[in-house]
Amino acid sequence: MCGIVGYVGHSDGRVNAGHNALGVVLEGLRRLEYRGYDSAGIAVVADGTISSRKKSGKLSNLIAELEASPLPESLTGIGHTRWATHGGPTDQNAHPHLSDEGKLALIHNGIIENFAELKLELVRKGVVFQSETDTEVAAALLGDIYRNQMGGDAAKGGLTRAMELACQRLEGAFTLLAIHADQPDVVVAARRNSPLVVGLGEGENFLGSDVSGFIDYTRRAVELGQDQIVTITADAVEITDFYGAPAEGKEYHVNWDPASAEKGGFPSFMEKEIHDQPDAVLQTLLGRSDIHGNLTLDELRVDPELLKSVDKIIVLACGTSAYAGQVAKYAIEHWCRIPTEVELSHEFRYRDPIVDENTLIVSISQSGETMDTLMAVRYAKEQGAKTVSICNTNGSTIPRESDAVLYTHAGPEIAVASTKAFLAQITAAYLLGLYLAQLRGNKFQGEIKDILADLGKIPAKVQHILDNEDQIKELGRSMADAKSVLFLGRHVGFPVAMEGALKLKELAYIHAEGFAAGELKHGPIALIEEGQPVFVVVPSPRGRNSLHAKVVSNIQEVRARGARTIVIAEEGDEAVKAYAEHVFYIPETPTLLAPLLTTVPLQIFALALASAKGYDVDQPRNLAKSVTVE
Ligand code: AGP
Repeated sequence: MCGIVGYVGHSDGRVNAGHNALGVVLEGLRRLEYRGYDSAGIAVVADGTISSRKKSGKLSNLIAELEASPLPESLTGIGHTRWATHGGPTDQNAHPHLSDEGKLALIHNGIIENFAELKLELVRKGVVFQSETDTEVAAALLGDIYRNQMGGDAAKGGLTRAMELACQRLEGAFTLLAIHADQPDVVVAARRNSPLVVGLGEGENFLGSDVSGFIDYTRRAVELGQDQIVTITADAVEITDFYGAPAEGKEYHVNWDPASAEKGGFPSFMEKEIHDQPDAVLQTLLGRSDIHGNLTLDELRVDPELLKSVDKIIVLACGTSAYAGQVAKYAIEHWCRIPTEVELSHEFRYRDPIVDENTLIVSISQSGETMDTLMAVRYAKEQGAKTVSICNTNGSTIPRESDAVLYTHAGPEIAVASTKAFLAQITAAYLLGLYLAQLRGNKFQGEIKDILADLGKIPAKVQHILDNEDQIKELGRSMADAKSVLFLGRHVGFPVAMEGALKLKELAYIHAEGFAAGELKHGPIALIEEGQPVFVVVPSPRGRNSLHAKVVSNIQEVRARGARTIVIAEEGDEAVKAYAEHVFYIPETPTLLAPLLTTVPLQIFALALASAKGYDVDQPRNLAKSVTVE
C-alpha cells in the first residue's frame, strides 16, 4: 500500500491548465499519506533533465527538503509515499528510483516477485544498485530496455513501448509510474493487481493510487483494468495492454468529498479497512511461495538448521494480535508438531518462563511498537531464544530488535481497532507454520501446496462475505441498545469468539465476553437469561473430527435458557437453523482457515452497532493505536 501521484499539464492559458507539477503532486501525496508514510519522494521533468528529491519519514520531511533544495518549475511530475515492503524506510530506499543515467524516474506500489533474477541479469550488464528495493530493479529494467533495446529512440514508441516490454518481464503485483527527460510532457503508467486510477482535467491529466490523489482538481476519473498501460499528456490519455493493443478504461464521476476519498469512499477508516481485508490477505501471500508450492520466506533469515532444532514455540502478543496467535497455534501444532504456547506479552516475563536456545519466540504486532511485547522479546533474547517478528510496520522497533521478520502487507491500519492486520497476521503465521513444516519434513510438498491453494482462495471468500454484509449490518443496528453480548466458539472458533467480543468492547463500549463453548456449563451459563444475545461460531459439519455436533448442543443449552442465538455457520449447514434466531453463512473452507472468514461478520456487527450509537469507530475512547507504555 503506497500513495502514488502523476501529473501532466501545460500552460497555454486555458482554464485550469498549467499547474506547477510540484504543487499538484504534493497535494495528492498529502491526501494519500494514509496509504504509507515510511518515506516520500517526487520527480519532475524540467529543462531536459529529471530533478528529484526523496526523504525517509513523513511527507513533512520531504517538504522540508524541498524548501531547503527547491525543484525547478515543471508541468510533468510523479510522487510517492511509501509503505515499505522490500527494504527498510531509508532515504536510499525511498521512491522515485532513477535509471538511464538519471534521465528516467520510476515509482512503484506492490511487489515484484521475480526481482531477484532480474537484478542478477542487470548486475551482469553492469548496473550498480543503490537500494535494497525491488522498485529500483524495475527502474533499471525499464531504463535498460529504453536505452539498450530501443536505442533511446522516442520515435519508436519511447517510454510507452519500453514500459510494455518491461511489464512483459515482470511478475507479481505492481503499479508503476515513469517519466523520462526525453519526453518532458508524458507520464507512463502500468498496473497489475495494484490500484491505479486516471483523473481527466482540462489541459491537464492526473494519475493516482485512488481518486484522493487528484480530487482537488477533477472529479472525472477513469478506472483501469488488469495488465494495462496508460500514457498521459496534457491533452490525451491513451490506454493499451502490455502488448500495445488499444484497451478501454471505464470513466466515472467521483461524488466523494475529499475527506471521505482518503477513506476510499467509506464513512470511516474502520469500514475501509474491513473492506481492505481481501487485499491484505492477498498481499501477505504474494511472493512467498513458488509455483511448486515451495515456501520462499527469503526475508525470514533464520538459520534453517536452527529452525530444525526448535522444540518449543512461544507466541508473544497483546490484544487482537494475541488472538491471531491463538488461532495460529492450532495450525502450527497440527502442521509442525511443535508445542506452541501463546503468551500475553505483559504476563510472560514475570512468570519465570522456561526459555532456551531451542525456543523460537514469535512476536505478533501490527505496530511493532507495543512496549509490552518489545520488553517480552528483549527478555526472551536474554534467555537465548531466537526471535521472529510478524509485523505490519516496516522498520519498527520490534522487528528491528528481532533476529528475523515476516512482514504482513496489510498496508497502514489507521483505525485503532485492528481488523485487516488481524487477518494478515493469521495469514503470515500460517506461512511461518507451513515453512517450518516444509523445513522439518512434517508435510509433503503436495500437502503444503494444497494448503497454500486453499489460502489463495480466502481473499475471494472474504469478498463474498463483504458483498453480503447488509444482513449483519442490520442486526448490528437493531441491537444498539444491547447491554451485554456473549460470544462462543470451540477450537479455532474460540479465539475468534474472543476477538469478536474485543471488537464490540472497543467500538461500542458494552460488556462483551468470549468463551470456549465447552466451558459455559462450568459456570458462565449462569449469565444466560431471557433475551441475552449470544453469538456462536459454528465449525464446519464436514470432516470426521468435526466439533459441529458439540457446538450445536451448546447452542441448545443457551437457547433453552432464553438466549437470542446468532450463529455464524458454513454455507449448507441446515442443522443450525432450528436453534438460531439469525444465521450468517460463510463460504465453505478448511477448518484451520475458517477464522479468516468467521471473524469478518463479527467485525461488521461491532462496527454497525457502534455506528448506530454514534460513536467514533476510528478513534474509540480511552484507546491508542499503539500502546507504547508498559
Ligand atoms: C486491537 O483492536 C487493539 N487495538 C489492541 O488490542 C491491539 O491489538 C494491541 O494493542 C496490540 O497492538 P500491536 O498489534 O500493534 O502490538
